[in-house]
Amino acid sequence: QIAYVNGSFVPLSEAKVSILDRGFLFADGIYEVAAVLDGKLIDNASHLARLERSVGEISLALPETTERIQEIQKELIARNKIVNGMVYLEVTRGADTGRDFAFPKAVKPTLIMFTSVKDIVNAASAKTGIGVITVPDLRWERRDIKSVALLAQVLAKQAAAEAGAGEAWMIEDGKVTEGGSSSAFILTQDDVLVTRQNSSAILPGCTRKAVVALAEERQLRVEERPFTVEEALAAKEAFITSATVFVQAVVSIDGKQVANGKPGPMTNRLREIYVDFAR
Ligand code: PDD
Repeated sequence: QIAYVNGSFVPLSEAKVSILDRGFLFADGIYEVAAVLDGKLIDNASHLARLERSVGEISLALPETTERIQEIQKELIARNKIVNGMVYLEVTRGADTGRDFAFPKAVKPTLIMFTSVKDIVNAASAKTGIGVITVPDLRWERRDIKSVALLAQVLAKQAAAEAGAGEAWMIEDGKVTEGGSSSAFILTQDDVLVTRQNSSAILPGCTRKAVVALAEERQLRVEERPFTVEEALAAKEAFITSATVFVQAVVSIDGKQVANGKPGPMTNRLREIYVDFAR
């Protein structure tokens, strides 16, 4: 496995950054995860646009143009012969000589990338769906920034793993914000697709955006608003979206079945439509 670190392609085991890197000390960094399907990056323009927005929101200048970043992503996919998987990229404010909270002057941002293998289309959980648990949303108030400060999500997803669930839905003011690393959707009994509107309360998911557009193109009614767990339990179907799962059915919430406890037909259809769009 080859990784990219600040201008060089190096074996993953030799890919290193300083202990003074602000990503490590302060989580002062931004990341993106883009899927690879049949060797091709999926919806990458959307991921790079969000990267530019995220770095802008924390006044961090990208060390490379997004065109160059995409070239590096592609080179890494080729070098690692990734057919199905993902490319992770992270940019931090770099390593200074000490630990000043305020931005250091004249420090070059750190840019790293690595790949991993995952057959997203044929994942077993795509057929069975997953259970989710609910946890309080403990995150900060700028969840629209894809920052590497992920401790709340780490704890949420660990709790899910310990409960044998595939994702944690985070709850704020009685409503679902989103999953630990995914956007949350339900299909109501009147066939309305509901997902929370973009705001600083959630990450604007790239897959979410594509799925909403694909659903609207097919005349499906979409309502962007928060929903409760009770509403989700009374729904026809529920699912999550992300670059690493595409569209994945949610078949139980806190151990209670959603509908018949199987992936619903609309979820399966939207998954197929998304995979076609991606291909
Ligand atoms: N997570 N919401 C949160 C909090 C996320 O972390 C993610 C993605 C999403 C879905 O966004 P997208 O469709 O653009 O992947 C929503 C990535 C996959 C991760 O942290 O691994």
